[in-house]
Amino acid sequence: MEIEYKIPEANDLPAVMSLMPTLYSEIGPGLEKVLAEFIADKYYYKLLAVEKETGAAAGFIVGCCRLEVDFECRAGALEEVVVRPDCRGLGIGKTLLAEFEKWSAARGAEGIIVPCGREGFYEKMGFMKCPITRYWRDIKPGAR
Ligand SMILES: CC(C)(COP(=O)(O)OP(=O)(O)OC[C@H]1O[C@@H](n2cnc3c(N)ncnc32)[C@H](O)[C@@H]1OP(=O)(O)O)[C@@H](O)C(=O)NCCC(=O)NCCS
Repeated sequence: MEIEYKIPEANDLPAVMSLMPTLYSEIGPGLEKVLAEFIADKYYYKLLAVEKETGAAAGFIVGCCRLEVDFECRAGALEEVVVRPDCRGLGIGKTLLAEFEKWSAARGAEGIIVPCGREGFYEKMGFMKCPITRYWRDIKPGAR
């Protein structure tokens, strides 16, 4: 399977959305809006892997580069990486991560932080595990 990589544009939103059932068993109404904002917002790095022959989405990564108080530096912060189940094990996830690392390093990042993650893959990619607790409080009445 030949794979090519592209920066997704607004018309690639359906392709990106096609990968989401892999990540989430329930897809809320806000996810498409969030992904559309990621795609439109230049602050975020996005890369879409597509099958060269069919143009079907094979993988996607999104992240940003920001200051991290805990690690006392600028870091690439990975929001999400996903590879279509039948395309796994081909090196797509590794390539998406490597491209994100290059982009982050060019912006002064000293490391990559993954706020949530899948056991196994990140360890294989050389990450150390730093457990964190996250808190959330609605500030928009009736938001969810
Ligand atoms: C995790 C994920 C992105 C990996 O994508 P992938 O394209 O299959 O990964 P690659 O083929 O590039 O694998 C790179 C290396 O990691 C290893 N690897 C991949 N998934 C792994 C796992 N779950 N556990 C242990 N090792 C794993 C591969 O064996 C490979 O090793 P190698 O370099 O020695 O050959 C993919 O399995 C996925 O989409 N999972 C569901 C979504 C998810 O968990 N995303 C991460 C949460 S943010």
